[in-house]
Parts: sequence; C-alpha cells; structure tokens
Amino acid sequence: MNVLALLGSPREKGNTALLLDHYLRGVKECDKSARVETVFLHGKDIHPCTGCYTCVDTGGTCVIDDDMQDLYTKLKDADAFIFATPIYWWSITAQLKKFIDRLCPITSRDLEGKKFALLMTYGAAPPNRGPEMVTDMFEEIWNSFKVDFVHVYSTCTEDYLPVSENEKAQRDAYELGKELVRKIAAERHIRKDIQ
Ligand SMILES: Cc1cc2nc3c(=O)[nH]c(=O)nc-3n(C[C@H](O)[C@H](O)[C@H](O)COP(=O)(O)O)c2cc1C
Repeated sequence: MNVLALLGSPREKGNTALLLDHYLRGVKECDKSARVETVFLHGKDIHPCTGCYTCVDTGGTCVIDDDMQDLYTKLKDADAFIFATPIYWWSITAQLKKFIDRLCPITSRDLEGKKFALLMTYGAAPPNRGPEMVTDMFEEIWNSFKVDFVHVYSTCTEDYLPVSENEKAQRDAYELGKELVRKIAAERHIRKDIQ
C-alpha cells in the first residue's frame, strides 16, 4: 500500500504536522508493509499555475520544470493521499493551493478510485466555518476526479488545545489512520472475491 501525505503548513513541526504524524502512525501500525511518504510542500520548489493550458492542449504534461513533476508521479502511484493543512483565512494555505492549482494536467483516469483523507487544524473556536468550507471544496474537487473522500478530521489549536497537549486529537488521528488501511484492505478483498 502506497500512502502519500502532503503537509500544507509552513511549520514543519507545528500542530498540523503533529496531527499528521499521529495519523500516519496509525497507518503504519495497521499495515507494517505500507510505503508512507510525507512531502513538506513549503520546502518544495512549486511554481504557481500560469493558466497557459498547454497541459490540456498537449494531453497531460505541465511545461513548468519544478518539483511538481516528481509529485505528479507520486500522486499517480499512491493508493491513498492525505492533505494536512491549517486553516488560513477560512481556506487552505498558499502552499497547498499552489499544489492544487497545478493539478490541471491530472485527470480522473489518473486518480479514479484512490482514497483521500483531509486533516485540518484551526485557531478560532467553533462556530467556525473554515474547516467546513475547506471540506466542501475538496468534496467538489475529488468528486470530479472520482476520488473516494474517506474521512475528514479537524481540531482547534488556539482557543482549545495545541495538538501536542490534545490527547483526544492524537488518538482520533491515529484511529483514522488505521481506518484508512482497513478500508483499503477490505475493498481489495471484495475485488479479489469478485474476480
Ligand atoms: C495567516 C494565518 C491565517 C489564519 N487564519 C485562520 C482562520 O481563518 N481561521 C482559524 O480558525 N484559524 C486561523 N489561523 C490559525 C491556524 O489555523 C492555527 O493556528 C493552526 O493550528 C496552525 O497550524 P500549524 O501549527 O501547523 O502552523 C490562521 C493562522 C495564520 C498564520
């Protein structure tokens, strides 16, 4: 099983990174042979999409020669991918948005059937529509790619507790990581039974 995690926070050891760590611990403990890779987007050379549409006209390649070229391959090879982002201004971070904008050369043929999980941290206590709006956005995006949006989890870090002190959030993320593996494994069994 190939799992690709994209960390959207610019803070490599912040709340979002820690929440993701607990999630991936669950993945690894549930499937010891899982290949899990975390990409720290802030550390990557990813240029913004220029809207040239060359990828659409030429059928699938982006002309910008940067770290996205490698990430396209990783995304296509993944069975599941996880986005972990803090809420920035009721939305995602610029680092993750740049990645999303560069998905123009990707089609549902590349992603259909893959699993997606969304992890978010946010500062302001509920009611706070940030996580909900980001969830809605990804539901729209992944529906269009026929990606299976498996689960979403978010936790409040400033008005409530930083993830480092929030044992419930750590445990919840860990359990969700295990749930992702079980879901993929169960579907593989079903497919095997049908063949
Ligand atoms: C530029 C910026 C914008 C933010 N916007 C929001 C927001 O709209 N809503 C919210 O609840 N928290 C907001 N926050 C708080 C972060 O989402 C929160 O502190 C988060 O846990 C930070 O994650 P990190 O530790 O991984 O950096 C913002 C923080 C920053 C730096």
